[in-house]
Amino acid sequence: MEITIRELQTDEQAPYALLLLADPSLKLVNEYLPRGICFLAMYQKEIAGVLVLVPTRPETREIVNIAVKEEFQRKGIGKQLIHFAIHKAREMHTKTLEIGTGNPGVGQLLLYQKCGFRITGVDQDFFVRHYKEEIYENGIQCRDMIRLSMDI
Ligand code: ACO
Repeated sequence: MEITIRELQTDEQAPYALLLLADPSLKLVNEYLPRGICFLAMYQKEIAGVLVLVPTRPETREIVNIAVKEEFQRKGIGKQLIHFAIHKAREMHTKTLEIGTGNPGVGQLLLYQKCGFRITGVDQDFFVRHYKEEIYENGIQCRDMIRLSMDI
């Protein structure tokens, strides 16, 4: 699918519906959004996807949010957003790129590994500790965060 990727402008409203699709905590989204760069995948004039890249430790950045509108999913946009983020992170002299997803996120885990991430660990009960409401996906509770990383 033919998309272009650009940064969210300072005078532009962030695409909250999409950001909340990846992360149901508005509090967490509002906490990391100003610390990172928000990239938008544009299909013609429509925002089809979003990705937020945040510096975490020296030479380390994390993709803390990635989401593609339902009608645009499974068309390669998520993959293009991740490859774009890898390229941008390299330009910013990042050595390690990280990402995490909930334990039920099998599609996400496939996508991240297809893009070159390797599983490094599990943050047990992350979603129980940091989210007020219980989250369910694919019929099971989202409790643990699977952590992945890539040397870039
Ligand atoms: N089931 C199985 N495999 C999947 C799925 C899925 N639901 N989604 C992606 N994949 C895998 C497939 O291998 C796919 O290749 P294929 O279509 O040739 O089989 C490959 O990943 C590439 O998929 P894309 O089309 O590039 O992914 P998409 O544009 O659909 O975006 C995303 C993936 C962002 C996970 C999207 O499904 C989405 O927005 N989901 C809801 C929000 C979400 O869960 N975001 C991630 C939370 S974690 C975080 O934000 C750090």
